[in-house]
Amino acid sequence: MIEPNKLEKTSFLSCFDMTTKEVIHILELAKNLKNKNLTINRNGKVLGLIFDKSSTRTRVSFQVAMSRLGGTTIDLNPNTSQIGRGEPIKDTARVLSRYCDVLAIRTFKQSVLEEYAKWATIPVINALTDFEHPCQALADFFTIKEEFGELKGKVISYIGDGNNVANSLIICGALLEVEIRIACPKGYEPNSVLVNKAIEISENKNFLKITNDPLIGISGANVLYTDVWSSMGEENQKEKKDNDFKGFTIDRDLVNKAAKDAIILHCLPAYRDKEITDEVIESKNSRIFEQAENRMHVQQALLSCLLP
Ligand code: CP
Ligand code: NVA
Repeated sequence: MIEPNKLEKTSFLSCFDMTTKEVIHILELAKNLKNKNLTINRNGKVLGLIFDKSSTRTRVSFQVAMSRLGGTTIDLNPNTSQIGRGEPIKDTARVLSRYCDVLAIRTFKQSVLEEYAKWATIPVINALTDFEHPCQALADFFTIKEEFGELKGKVISYIGDGNNVANSLIICGALLEVEIRIACPKGYEPNSVLVNKAIEISENKNFLKITNDPLIGISGANVLYTDVWSSMGEENQKEKKDNDFKGFTIDRDLVNKAAKDAIILHCLPAYRDKEITDEVIESKNSRIFEQAENRMHVQQALLSCLLP
Protein backbone atom coordinates (compact mmCIF):
# COMPACT_ATOMS: atom_id res chain seq x y z
CA MET A 1 0.00 0.00 0.00
CA ILE A 2 1.40 3.38 -1.04
CA GLU A 3 1.85 6.00 1.70
CA PRO A 4 2.68 9.69 1.42
CA ASN A 5 6.41 10.35 1.65
CA LYS A 6 7.72 13.61 2.99
CA LEU A 7 9.12 15.83 0.23
CA GLU A 8 12.73 16.99 0.30
CA LYS A 9 11.73 20.68 0.28
CA THR A 10 9.44 22.09 2.95
CA SER A 11 7.52 24.32 0.53
CA PHE A 12 6.22 23.95 -3.02
CA LEU A 13 6.92 27.29 -4.68
CA SER A 14 7.95 26.00 -8.09
CA CYS A 15 8.02 22.77 -10.05
CA PHE A 16 11.80 23.02 -9.63
CA ASP A 17 11.19 22.22 -5.94
CA MET A 18 10.33 18.61 -6.82
CA THR A 19 12.54 15.75 -7.88
CA THR A 20 11.40 13.43 -10.66
CA LYS A 21 10.76 10.74 -8.06
CA GLU A 22 8.59 13.10 -6.04
CA VAL A 23 6.43 14.10 -9.02
CA ILE A 24 5.86 10.43 -9.86
CA HIS A 25 5.05 9.72 -6.21
CA ILE A 26 2.47 12.55 -6.04
CA LEU A 27 0.82 11.37 -9.29
CA GLU A 28 0.69 7.81 -7.95
CA LEU A 29 -0.80 8.92 -4.64
CA ALA A 30 -3.37 11.04 -6.49
CA LYS A 31 -4.35 8.06 -8.62
CA ASN A 32 -4.97 5.96 -5.52
CA LEU A 33 -6.93 8.75 -3.89
CA LYS A 34 -9.06 9.25 -6.99
CA ASN A 35 -9.74 5.51 -7.30
CA LYS A 36 -10.62 5.38 -3.59
CA ASN A 37 -7.89 2.80 -2.96
CA LEU A 38 -6.37 5.00 -0.32
CA THR A 39 -7.50 7.12 2.60
CA ILE A 40 -5.15 9.61 4.17
CA ASN A 41 -5.95 11.42 7.40
CA ARG A 42 -4.55 14.77 8.35
CA ASN A 43 -7.22 15.33 10.96
CA GLY A 44 -7.42 18.78 12.46
CA LYS A 45 -4.77 20.30 10.16
CA VAL A 46 -5.49 23.80 8.94
CA LEU A 47 -4.75 25.24 5.52
CA GLY A 48 -4.70 29.03 5.19
CA LEU A 49 -5.57 30.41 1.76
CA ILE A 50 -4.25 33.83 0.76
CA PHE A 51 -5.50 34.80 -2.69
CA ASP A 52 -4.51 38.19 -4.12
CA LYS A 53 -6.15 37.19 -7.43
CA SER A 54 -9.51 35.58 -8.21
CA SER A 55 -9.89 31.81 -8.28
CA THR A 56 -12.60 29.18 -8.58
CA ARG A 57 -10.82 25.87 -9.21
CA THR A 58 -7.70 26.34 -7.10
CA ARG A 59 -9.54 27.73 -4.09
CA VAL A 60 -12.36 25.18 -4.08
CA SER A 61 -10.19 22.17 -4.96
CA PHE A 62 -7.85 23.04 -2.08
CA GLN A 63 -10.81 23.43 0.28
CA VAL A 64 -12.33 20.09 -0.71
CA ALA A 65 -8.95 18.32 -0.73
CA MET A 66 -8.29 19.54 2.80
CA SER A 67 -11.73 18.49 4.01
CA ARG A 68 -11.20 15.03 2.49
CA LEU A 69 -8.03 14.79 4.59
CA GLY A 70 -10.04 15.61 7.70
CA GLY A 71 -8.63 19.10 7.93
CA THR A 72 -10.10 22.57 7.51
CA THR A 73 -9.30 25.73 5.59
CA ILE A 74 -9.40 29.42 6.37
CA ASP A 75 -9.91 31.75 3.44
CA LEU A 76 -7.89 34.84 4.29
CA ASN A 77 -9.37 37.43 2.00
CA PRO A 78 -6.66 40.10 1.68
CA ASN A 79 -9.34 42.83 1.61
CA THR A 80 -10.86 41.91 4.94
CA SER A 81 -7.64 40.92 6.69
CA GLN A 82 -4.72 43.24 7.46
CA ILE A 83 -2.89 41.90 4.40
CA GLY A 84 -4.74 44.40 2.21
CA ARG A 85 -3.70 47.22 4.54
CA GLY A 86 -0.09 46.37 3.78
CA GLU A 87 1.00 44.60 6.96
CA PRO A 88 4.55 43.39 6.27
CA ILE A 89 4.69 39.87 4.88
CA LYS A 90 7.29 38.92 7.47
CA ASP A 91 4.75 39.69 10.21
CA THR A 92 1.76 38.03 8.54
CA ALA A 93 3.78 34.91 7.69
CA ARG A 94 5.07 34.45 11.23
CA VAL A 95 1.67 35.02 12.83
CA LEU A 96 -0.18 32.69 10.45
CA SER A 97 2.46 30.02 11.06
CA ARG A 98 1.28 29.92 14.66
CA TYR A 99 -2.35 29.25 13.68
CA CYS A 100 -2.15 27.23 10.47
CA ASP A 101 -0.25 24.12 9.39
CA VAL A 102 0.21 25.04 5.71
CA LEU A 103 -0.46 28.06 3.47
CA ALA A 104 -1.54 28.20 -0.18
CA ILE A 105 -0.84 31.58 -1.74
CA ARG A 106 -1.94 33.09 -5.05
CA THR A 107 -0.24 36.35 -5.82
CA PHE A 108 1.44 38.36 -8.57
CA LYS A 109 5.19 38.31 -8.06
CA GLN A 110 7.07 35.09 -7.38
CA SER A 111 9.26 37.15 -5.01
CA VAL A 112 6.22 37.89 -2.79
CA LEU A 113 5.52 34.16 -2.50
CA GLU A 114 9.19 33.57 -1.68
CA GLU A 115 9.07 36.24 1.00
CA TYR A 116 6.13 34.43 2.66
CA ALA A 117 8.05 31.16 2.51
CA LYS A 118 11.16 32.81 3.95
CA TRP A 119 9.34 33.93 7.09
CA ALA A 120 6.78 31.15 7.51
CA THR A 121 7.70 28.20 9.66
CA ILE A 122 5.12 26.00 7.89
CA PRO A 123 4.99 24.79 4.25
CA VAL A 124 3.93 27.33 1.62
CA ILE A 125 2.30 26.26 -1.64
CA ASN A 126 2.26 28.26 -4.86
CA ALA A 127 -1.40 28.54 -5.85
CA LEU A 128 -0.35 30.59 -8.93
CA THR A 129 1.99 33.50 -9.45
CA ASP A 130 2.76 35.46 -12.61
CA PHE A 131 5.72 33.11 -13.05
CA GLU A 132 4.39 29.63 -12.31
CA HIS A 133 1.31 27.52 -11.70
CA PRO A 134 2.85 24.31 -10.35
CA CYS A 135 -0.32 22.72 -8.90
CA GLN A 136 -1.91 23.08 -12.32
CA ALA A 137 1.02 21.30 -13.99
CA LEU A 138 0.68 18.36 -11.57
CA ALA A 139 -3.00 18.01 -12.53
CA ASP A 140 -2.13 18.32 -16.23
CA PHE A 141 0.43 15.53 -16.16
CA PHE A 142 -1.91 13.42 -14.02
CA THR A 143 -4.64 13.85 -16.66
CA ILE A 144 -2.28 12.91 -19.48
CA LYS A 145 -1.06 9.82 -17.61
CA GLU A 146 -4.63 8.87 -16.79
CA GLU A 147 -5.52 9.05 -20.48
CA PHE A 148 -2.55 7.31 -22.05
CA GLY A 149 -1.39 5.05 -19.23
CA GLU A 150 2.14 6.38 -19.46
CA LEU A 151 3.89 9.61 -20.18
CA LYS A 152 6.91 8.22 -22.00
CA GLY A 153 7.00 9.18 -25.66
CA LYS A 154 4.08 11.58 -25.44
CA VAL A 155 4.20 15.00 -27.08
CA ILE A 156 2.47 17.97 -25.45
CA SER A 157 1.85 20.98 -27.67
CA TYR A 158 1.04 24.16 -25.88
CA ILE A 159 -0.31 26.78 -28.28
CA GLY A 160 -0.46 30.20 -26.67
CA ASP A 161 1.24 32.63 -24.34
CA GLY A 162 4.58 31.69 -22.77
CA ASN A 163 3.09 32.37 -19.35
CA ASN A 164 2.97 30.86 -15.84
CA VAL A 165 1.08 27.77 -17.05
CA ALA A 166 3.57 27.20 -19.88
CA ASN A 167 6.51 27.68 -17.50
CA SER A 168 5.33 25.01 -15.06
CA LEU A 169 4.54 22.61 -17.91
CA ILE A 170 8.07 23.03 -19.22
CA ILE A 171 9.65 22.22 -15.85
CA CYS A 172 7.48 19.13 -15.36
CA GLY A 173 8.27 18.09 -18.93
CA ALA A 174 11.96 18.35 -18.04
CA LEU A 175 11.50 16.30 -14.87
CA LEU A 176 9.42 13.61 -16.55
CA GLU A 177 11.23 13.64 -19.90
CA VAL A 178 8.09 14.41 -21.88
CA GLU A 179 8.43 16.35 -25.13
CA ILE A 180 7.00 19.84 -24.80
CA ARG A 181 6.40 22.11 -27.77
CA ILE A 182 5.50 25.71 -27.20
CA ALA A 183 4.01 27.61 -30.13
CA CYS A 184 3.58 31.32 -29.46
CA PRO A 185 3.77 34.57 -31.40
CA LYS A 186 7.18 36.22 -31.55
CA GLY A 187 7.90 38.07 -28.32
CA TYR A 188 5.70 35.82 -26.18
CA GLU A 189 8.20 33.02 -25.61
CA PRO A 190 8.56 31.57 -22.10
CA ASN A 191 11.14 33.03 -19.73
CA SER A 192 14.61 32.16 -21.05
CA VAL A 193 16.23 31.75 -17.62
CA LEU A 194 13.57 29.21 -16.66
CA VAL A 195 13.91 27.46 -20.03
CA ASN A 196 17.69 27.12 -19.65
CA LYS A 197 17.36 25.82 -16.11
CA ALA A 198 14.76 23.27 -17.27
CA ILE A 199 17.06 22.04 -20.04
CA GLU A 200 19.89 21.84 -17.51
CA ILE A 201 17.93 19.50 -15.20
CA SER A 202 16.52 17.33 -17.97
CA GLU A 203 18.20 14.10 -19.01
CA ASN A 204 16.92 14.74 -22.54
CA LYS A 205 18.39 18.05 -23.70
CA ASN A 206 16.01 18.08 -26.70
CA PHE A 207 12.77 17.71 -24.78
CA LEU A 208 11.69 21.31 -25.50
CA LYS A 209 10.88 22.96 -28.81
CA ILE A 210 9.82 26.59 -29.05
CA THR A 211 8.35 27.82 -32.31
CA ASN A 212 6.32 30.74 -33.64
CA ASP A 213 4.36 28.46 -35.96
CA PRO A 214 1.34 26.67 -34.46
CA LEU A 215 1.39 24.12 -37.29
CA ILE A 216 4.93 23.00 -36.43
CA GLY A 217 3.92 22.83 -32.80
CA ILE A 218 0.96 20.62 -33.43
CA SER A 219 2.00 17.98 -35.94
CA GLY A 220 1.73 14.53 -34.35
CA ALA A 221 1.02 15.91 -30.88
CA ASN A 222 -0.83 13.75 -28.32
CA VAL A 223 -1.95 16.67 -26.19
CA LEU A 224 -3.07 20.11 -27.34
CA TYR A 225 -3.02 22.60 -24.54
CA THR A 226 -3.86 26.26 -24.35
CA ASP A 227 -4.51 29.00 -21.82
CA VAL A 228 -5.81 32.56 -22.00
CA TRP A 229 -3.77 35.03 -24.03
CA SER A 230 -4.02 37.69 -21.32
CA SER A 231 -3.48 36.46 -17.79
CA MET A 232 -4.79 38.01 -14.60
CA GLY A 233 -3.00 41.32 -14.17
CA GLU A 234 -2.61 41.82 -17.94
CA GLU A 235 -6.09 43.20 -18.55
CA ASN A 236 -4.68 46.40 -20.04
CA GLN A 237 -2.79 44.42 -22.72
CA LYS A 238 -5.87 42.53 -23.90
CA GLU A 239 -6.43 44.42 -27.13
CA LYS A 240 -2.81 44.18 -28.25
CA LYS A 241 -2.51 40.53 -27.29
CA ASP A 242 -5.78 39.57 -29.01
CA ASN A 243 -4.25 41.03 -32.14
CA ASP A 244 -0.81 39.49 -31.73
CA PHE A 245 -2.26 36.01 -31.08
CA LYS A 246 -4.38 35.87 -34.26
CA GLY A 247 -3.84 32.43 -35.83
CA PHE A 248 -3.15 30.76 -32.48
CA THR A 249 -6.72 29.68 -31.74
CA ILE A 250 -7.16 25.94 -31.17
CA ASP A 251 -9.97 25.16 -33.58
CA ARG A 252 -11.17 22.05 -35.37
CA ASP A 253 -8.67 22.51 -38.25
CA LEU A 254 -5.74 22.62 -35.87
CA VAL A 255 -7.01 19.62 -33.89
CA ASN A 256 -7.21 17.62 -37.12
CA LYS A 257 -3.47 18.10 -37.62
CA ALA A 258 -2.57 16.53 -34.27
CA ALA A 259 -2.37 12.77 -33.56
CA LYS A 260 -5.69 10.97 -34.07
CA ASP A 261 -6.34 10.27 -30.40
CA ALA A 262 -4.99 13.65 -29.22
CA ILE A 263 -6.66 15.13 -26.17
CA ILE A 264 -7.40 18.79 -25.53
CA LEU A 265 -6.50 20.51 -22.28
CA HIS A 266 -7.13 24.02 -20.95
CA CYS A 267 -6.47 25.03 -17.36
CA LEU A 268 -9.64 27.22 -17.38
CA PRO A 269 -11.14 29.75 -17.12
CA ALA A 270 -11.29 30.07 -20.91
CA TYR A 271 -12.28 32.80 -23.30
CA ARG A 272 -14.29 30.68 -25.70
CA ASP A 273 -13.62 31.44 -29.37
CA LYS A 274 -10.44 33.33 -28.55
CA GLU A 275 -7.65 30.90 -27.58
CA ILE A 276 -9.94 27.89 -28.18
CA THR A 277 -13.26 27.43 -29.91
CA ASP A 278 -16.40 26.50 -28.05
CA GLU A 279 -16.66 23.47 -30.37
CA VAL A 280 -13.24 22.13 -29.35
CA ILE A 281 -13.90 22.64 -25.63
CA GLU A 282 -17.08 20.60 -25.99
CA SER A 283 -15.61 18.01 -28.38
CA LYS A 284 -15.11 14.34 -27.52
CA ASN A 285 -11.33 14.87 -27.43
CA SER A 286 -11.64 17.40 -24.64
CA ARG A 287 -10.46 16.31 -21.19
CA ILE A 288 -10.77 19.82 -19.80
CA PHE A 289 -13.28 18.97 -17.07
CA GLU A 290 -11.41 15.83 -16.00
CA GLN A 291 -8.33 18.06 -15.79
CA ALA A 292 -10.21 20.48 -13.53
CA GLU A 293 -11.38 17.63 -11.30
CA ASN A 294 -7.84 16.29 -11.07
CA ARG A 295 -6.68 19.52 -9.43
CA MET A 296 -8.39 18.25 -6.28
CA HIS A 297 -6.80 14.79 -6.32
CA VAL A 298 -3.24 15.98 -6.93
CA GLN A 299 -3.56 18.72 -4.32
CA GLN A 300 -4.85 16.22 -1.78
CA ALA A 301 -1.77 14.11 -2.55
CA LEU A 302 0.50 17.15 -2.34
CA LEU A 303 -0.96 18.30 0.98
CA SER A 304 -0.57 14.84 2.48
CA CYS A 305 3.15 14.87 1.54
CA LEU A 306 3.75 18.39 2.85
CA LEU A 307 1.89 17.80 6.12
CA PRO A 308 3.63 15.28 8.33
N1 CP B 1 -6.95 26.83 -13.39
C1 CP B 1 -7.09 27.63 -12.32
O1 CP B 1 -6.16 27.86 -11.58
O2 CP B 1 -8.34 28.14 -12.16
P1 CP B 1 -8.79 29.20 -11.07
O3 CP B 1 -8.20 30.53 -11.49
O4 CP B 1 -10.29 29.19 -11.13
O5 CP B 1 -8.26 28.78 -9.73
N1 NVA C 1 -2.41 32.19 -17.08
C1 NVA C 1 -3.65 32.37 -16.37
C2 NVA C 1 -3.99 31.12 -15.64
C3 NVA C 1 -5.28 31.17 -14.86
C4 NVA C 1 -5.55 29.91 -14.12
C5 NVA C 1 -3.52 33.54 -15.40
O1 NVA C 1 -2.47 33.66 -14.77
O2 NVA C 1 -4.45 34.34 -15.31
